[in-house]
Amino acid sequence: MFSDSLFGKPTLAIESSCDETSAAVVVGQRVLSNVIASQAEMHEKWGGVVPEAAARAHVQSVIPVIDEALSKSGLSLEDIGGIAVTNRPGLIGALSVGVTVAKALAFKLQIPLIGIDHLEGHLLAFLGLGVQPVFPMVSLLVSGGHSELVLIRGCGDYELLGQTRDDAAGEAFDKGARLLGLGYPGGRQIQEHAKLGNPNRYSLPRGLAKERYEMSFSGLKTAVLRLVEQEGNAISVPDAAASLQQAVCDALLRRLEHAIEDYQPASLGLCGGVAANSQLRSMVEQLGEQNGIAVMIPPFELCTDNAAMIGLAAQCHPIEDWEVGFELEPSPRSLLFSDQG
Ligand code: KG4
Ligand code: ZN
Repeated sequence: MFSDSLFGKPTLAIESSCDETSAAVVVGQRVLSNVIASQAEMHEKWGGVVPEAAARAHVQSVIPVIDEALSKSGLSLEDIGGIAVTNRPGLIGALSVGVTVAKALAFKLQIPLIGIDHLEGHLLAFLGLGVQPVFPMVSLLVSGGHSELVLIRGCGDYELLGQTRDDAAGEAFDKGARLLGLGYPGGRQIQEHAKLGNPNRYSLPRGLAKERYEMSFSGLKTAVLRLVEQEGNAISVPDAAASLQQAVCDALLRRLEHAIEDYQPASLGLCGGVAANSQLRSMVEQLGEQNGIAVMIPPFELCTDNAAMIGLAAQCHPIEDWEVGFELEPSPRSLLFSDQG
């Protein structure tokens, strides 16, 4: 799977598509360092990511983050054989920061450069487990901006089975948390409060229950809003958090069950920021066990946005893909499933 010509040498990976500035050093499936500077605290006061502010913060932190990733790996720039950078999809100003720095470094060092789709990074983050991948794999990519069910036939061969029609699963957590008066980003807050709550206390919708693969999470947000209005001060935040978490997990699990029936995958994957959710992780692991299917879930630090996953995905690209020269441009759109129209 991995080409040795370039990849005998370490890859420096850079990620700046949203509100995390990250740099990592990767060799094959080994992550030597993975440094993440989160802007979450800064965006918390606005209740979401402010693109202009995100881009400015990336400018400030990108060089120190790269320096730290290199020093943690015990290497210097001269040891690096190639540079991988997220160039799509994401906030254009934020992406531009990583892409510009990556180009400058590749030019200075005269080494190859590759643009990686952020979604491919999430889908292949499990490689960081160091295990041999088994395909076909059905993977659930769930983050703050995405909820996609993907059939992976091999590295570079991705088929979109279904996605959300409206809000992403992570948005359901983030918006629900905001309505319940918890902080941003909401996923972790919901998970912590849910530990003390009763998931059956409040009945919340599962969204498009009759669809095999399409998903919808916007009704959930409206239902939480109504619940907050109805219950007022009497609301139990732990019970509401547990009920919300259960509703999101149930809706996602149902789609995975359908994909197991339809495609008999050799493995199941779970990736993206929401894959950090411990209940969802254990539900997917259980589903794999019940069906005798291997489950590959990246470690926590490779689930939320990070550069190591970009470096890992880059290792799977043949040498021809690295010949992008300096024309590489950032783009807000993913092209990962674009051949499917
Ligand atoms: O992949 P990611 O870091 O950024 C995007 O590309 O969106 O995902 C961030 C999302 C946020 O919506 C956040 O609330 C959610 O992942 N998240 C979680 C947990 N940790 C992060 N959702 C549920 N449970 C968690 N423990
Ligand atoms: Zn992401």
